[in-house]
Amino acid sequence: MPMAPWISRAAAIVSLVFTSFGTGAHAQNGGQLIASYVVLGPDGHAIARAITTAEACPALTVDGKASAMSVRSAAGTAPQRPTASKPELSKRSAFAATTCEAAIPPAAKRAEIAGAALPLPPRIIKRIVVIGDTGCRIKAADNAVQDCDDPGAYPFASITAAAAAWKPDIVLHVGDYLYRENPCPDDKTALCGGTKWGYGLDAWQADFLTPAAPLLKDAPWVMVRGNHETCDRAGQGWRRFFDVYDLTPDRTCDDPAHDMAGNFTEPFAVPLGEGAQIIVWDTASAANKPFKADDPRAAAYLQTVQRIFALAKQQPHTILTNHHPVLAVTAKMTKDGKREVAPGNPSLQAVLAEANPAFYPAGIDLLLSGHIHVLEQLSFGGKYPSQFVTGFSGTQEDIVPLPESLSDGDDPAPGATPDAFSSWVDGFGFMTLERTGTADWKAEIHDKMGKVVNRCTIKGRLSHCDIKQVHVG
Ligand SMILES: [Fe+2]
Repeated sequence: MPMAPWISRAAAIVSLVFTSFGTGAHAQNGGQLIASYVVLGPDGHAIARAITTAEACPALTVDGKASAMSVRSAAGTAPQRPTASKPELSKRSAFAATTCEAAIPPAAKRAEIAGAALPLPPRIIKRIVVIGDTGCRIKAADNAVQDCDDPGAYPFASITAAAAAWKPDIVLHVGDYLYRENPCPDDKTALCGGTKWGYGLDAWQADFLTPAAPLLKDAPWVMVRGNHETCDRAGQGWRRFFDVYDLTPDRTCDDPAHDMAGNFTEPFAVPLGEGAQIIVWDTASAANKPFKADDPRAAAYLQTVQRIFALAKQQPHTILTNHHPVLAVTAKMTKDGKREVAPGNPSLQAVLAEANPAFYPAGIDLLLSGHIHVLEQLSFGGKYPSQFVTGFSGTQEDIVPLPESLSDGDDPAPGATPDAFSSWVDGFGFMTLERTGTADWKAEIHDKMGKVVNRCTIKGRLSHCDIKQVHVG
């Protein structure tokens, strides 16, 4: 029997709604709205963004009043630029959709794009989900391949669903979003055959926009740039979609002649209310050893550090977030099978030491980073801020076990001896921060399904976790 017309229409609507929830994409004026989300920029201002294949940008409706969004970046394909990979493993970055943007006024009570509500930050931010290093690794040089379609091997989508269920006020991503850099190797097609790759929109959809959809829908994001988002990697997409400043031609990462400008971002502060703030530091192009004196990055990073120190004076309590951990350790296996513990990032340590012998001025209490694909917590008796590393939210894990306690000589920086150290190696998940005082937080470490596997207390610069080394699964 044919379906009654109203039932068929209702079914179509339900199907559209589910499609919308599943992928973040839905129809919009002769095109498809691929994603809409909110990023928090300087002074915590909320910026609405939309990525659309329609000819015109959608309207942003704030408290019932619609206004046109402006074009941040038109659809198009930039010429091939040199990348971090060999030319035969690179391709032009195609962006077959327009990125649109509009500022959301601070007093806005409701904002929507194409009928879907955008998440707005509360005046006082108390609940933060922290994730990092979330892409599915396909890197020819390392012959490293994850099974991107297996939620066990690549659980970013489970993590965003579990993190959304925790109902954060905001999400903080500590960097490294795109890992599908090269085509799936011929001998690995069982794992990654047919996967989108490169640095264009389709790879960003596969590696980030689609699996992150539940969290993009539910909360505004503070986004940190990782080394995977430098201009010679996924910087073109980073600048188009997530950078919070105007997209000037020298910052698109399209022309390598401008990479020095394209690889740097002015630090900015996001107030959390009641005396606290997050400062965001782009360290995408940090190096594995101190910069040489004639390296322009040395002066550029020194300038960003001085700016951060000035911003830190705005509030009594600062969380400083950047991708490369300054005060954490990495475990590596040498060729003769010995475990080696390596310190925090040498280039950033050298720049910080030049600006301040104590690295960080008072008020910078907590450092949140990624880059190392584990969970780590270190506290230094108040001499330095506590450091957390949350690079464990999807990308292939670092599996060389960290020691349960650090020995003499294993300090993340000279003189930075931890009074508390906790880790979780080879476990995927996310961290949550719940504010309990001006400079105090309850931190919980969740596995990929949201189950809490460790609990930590942060009081000013001090932190401590219940379990020194998590072993689950
Ligand atoms: Fe990284």
